Amino acid sequence: MAEFSLPKNSQVLPGKRVEAAAGAKRARNIRVYRYDPDSGENPRLDTYEIDLDKCGPMVLDAIIYIKNEIDPTLTFRRSCREGICGSCAMNIDGTNTLACTKATESVKGDVKIYPLPHMPVHKDLVPDLTHFYAQYASIKPWLQTDTAPPPDRERLQSKEDREKLDGLYECILCACCSTSCPSYWWNSDRYLGPAILLQAYRWLIDSRDEATGDRLDNLEDPFRLYRCHTIMNCAKTCPKNLNPAQAIAEVKKMMLTRTL
Ligand code: SF4
Ligand code: SF4
Ligand code: FES
Repeated sequence: MAEFSLPKNSQVLPGKRVEAAAGAKRARNIRVYRYDPDSGENPRLDTYEIDLDKCGPMVLDAIIYIKNEIDPTLTFRRSCREGICGSCAMNIDGTNTLACTKATESVKGDVKIYPLPHMPVHKDLVPDLTHFYAQYASIKPWLQTDTAPPPDRERLQSKEDREKLDGLYECILCACCSTSCPSYWWNSDRYLGPAILLQAYRWLIDSRDEATGDRLDNLEDPFRLYRCHTIMNCAKTCPKNLNPAQAIAEVKKMMLTRTL
């Protein structure tokens, strides 16, 4: 019989609560998903009441404060803390975004933090991105050429051709879009998802690349490309304001044009 509820061992249970120190002027509940596969226990939602006056303004500052001052076992990824590395992507207040560019004050009420959805979790807020990166590698994200480079300079690109990469090169591979895409949730084993397809398009339209035919062949598949149903969650959630759905539509157009 079909089962429509979560298996018992994956249900998120209420966790511990830590109160802010007496006298906190801007107390706020930060509610964080906790999961330790080594413990054998269910995931839980811990609540840390913190004084926002004690940390910086972003959600990343809040969880760094929790890790440093309250609970060193809290596990998450971060590096640049300025929206460039993509490593602090998580689900905050119901939306996939970057913890380092999301202001805590922009969330009304309790700040709820979960790992990126529909991904296996290593621990707490750290998703397993192995498959996502393997999919990225599958599109060969580097310049491919058959001709020899000019002997005295690098391969040049006109200003107009360079501008075609705007809206694409800014992608930081944070995976916020792919993990918000219902098609990717259900078919991530075969569908490449919005982040990887945006990257694929970035190489398809690079005027210096000479592997366009091979790249399109690699995408010509009922699942890898055509599982995008233009639901648009990807464009809505991208913290860099990019539009993967549009890039996917352009790839589909290229597919069509070459068969005409
Ligand atoms: S398109 Fe946006 S949301 Fe998707 S991986 Fe790139 S930066 Fe992240
Ligand atoms: S537009 Fe396509 S890639 Fe974007 S969320 Fe929808 S189905 Fe996924
Ligand atoms: S820490 Fe690098 S994007 Fe947030």
